[in-house]
Amino acid sequence: MQRHGAAVGVAASRVRFEEKAIMAALERRRVPFQPFDTRTLWLDLQGEPRLPYAVVLNREIAQTRSAYLARLLESFDVPTINPARAVEVCGDKFLTSTRLHRAGLPTPRTALALTTGAAASAMEQLGFPVVVKPLVGSWGRMVALVRDREAAAAVLEHREAMPAPQARIVYLQELVDKPGRDIRVIVVGTEPLGATYRTAGQWRTNAAQGAVSTRCPLTDDLAKLAVAAAEAVGAEVAGVDLLEGRDGELYVLEVNHNVEFRGFHAAHGDRVDVAGAIVGHALRWVRP
Ligand SMILES: Nc1ncnc2c1ncn2[C@@H]1O[C@H](COP(=O)(O)OP(=O)(O)O)[C@@H](O)[C@H]1O
Ligand SMILES: [Mg+2]
Repeated sequence: MQRHGAAVGVAASRVRFEEKAIMAALERRRVPFQPFDTRTLWLDLQGEPRLPYAVVLNREIAQTRSAYLARLLESFDVPTINPARAVEVCGDKFLTSTRLHRAGLPTPRTALALTTGAAASAMEQLGFPVVVKPLVGSWGRMVALVRDREAAAAVLEHREAMPAPQARIVYLQELVDKPGRDIRVIVVGTEPLGATYRTAGQWRTNAAQGAVSTRCPLTDDLAKLAVAAAEAVGAEVAGVDLLEGRDGELYVLEVNHNVEFRGFHAAHGDRVDVAGAIVGHALRWVRP
């Protein structure tokens, strides 16, 4: 006996291209669904609510709220896509790196320093240039390319002055000499749907930083790496970002748990139905 209802919940505080596409796909398949604004949700842990959801698609963009939404729903036995554990891992660059590394996947050399002083020492040893990233963040925000000791001192001084204790934990990475682009592979379940290049006029190639998406051939290597990376972080729906090195070798950079696919859709058009694949994956939790 299922405790909860049969609808697919669509949780978001902002309804973007992606959420509209997912709801359109649900409508097309005549799947009952209920969108809800995560900012209005609260549940009494002692209560025994009968929630209307068989499964919830977690589309909350705020990382902390997204992680607690997943934990909260899972505590009431409502499965979420992605699972709470994947939201936690993907939302934290350090946890992601450890999972990728442990799975034996190629990923840029990465270090974690527990103080800004230790970060300064690490940079001297690892050498410049070096990439410095916030532990939690997306869209390329505050991802800094540090070319020399002076720039390092400035970035670390700013980190020291920031109020959040997490700001003084410094995530450092070697700079991969990529050809002005990165590669995004979207994985749903264990299926790689396709790949795009994201090319930008600057070193950060996030769509949010103005990168343009074009079709990229999904080679066996890309497909295998992307599926393995999604599995390593426990993500059922994933936007896997990869970098190409100077000799074409591939590195897994990160896995995005709340995948945006506007650029992907611009590149592939209706040939690849990302929203439809996400809905198809969610249906395994919905009673016939
Ligand atoms: N180690 C690196 N070498 C080369 N480019 C990098 C590296 N790390 C990040 N970048 C560039 O910066 C962008 C943002 O970094 P990323 O780690 O994906 O952070 P975010 O989660 O904010 O997207 C990447 O898409 C890539 O273009
Ligand atoms: Mg990224």
